[in-house]
Amino acid sequence: MAGRITLTMIKPHAIEDGNLGNILAKILEAGFRISAMKLLRLSLKQAQEFYKIHDGREFYKPLTEFMSNGPIVAVILEKENAVQDFRKLIGTTDPTTAEEDTIRKLFGLNTKENAVHGSDSDENAKLEADFFFSLLERY
Ligand code: CMP
Repeated sequence: MAGRITLTMIKPHAIEDGNLGNILAKILEAGFRISAMKLLRLSLKQAQEFYKIHDGREFYKPLTEFMSNGPIVAVILEKENAVQDFRKLIGTTDPTTAEEDTIRKLFGLNTKENAVHGSDSDENAKLEADFFFSLLERY
């Protein structure tokens, strides 16, 4: 059975571009419920830990430096079939090839600055939600 939560991060460039509100509005319009949310800045070490499955890929260093160089907003989102529905809403990793009206098409710039992160499986959604939030921080 598909899980009910996914984890997103609104990436630094999207916040600095003034698109935090626009992105949250798209997410809420699509029927997701915000179960937890915080604005923070990751240390380089924390970004490396979050993205450790990509350690060794050519984009690991620029990605983790970028993600620790400005503010992010981490959010647990709740909905039936959350992981898959959210990935449909955000579009493909590369915003230039993403479907029209997806979050990455509207607010992303390139594969690194692609506006938002979205969990790729129910298992990772749980791990990623636990990375950012204690049980006391969820509603
Ligand atoms: P995100 O959903 O945050 O998860 C991994 C990130 O790696 C991805 O979004 C992209 O920003 C970044 N990335 C950069 N280059 C690539 C690539 N070639 N393939 C996949 N992810 C990439």
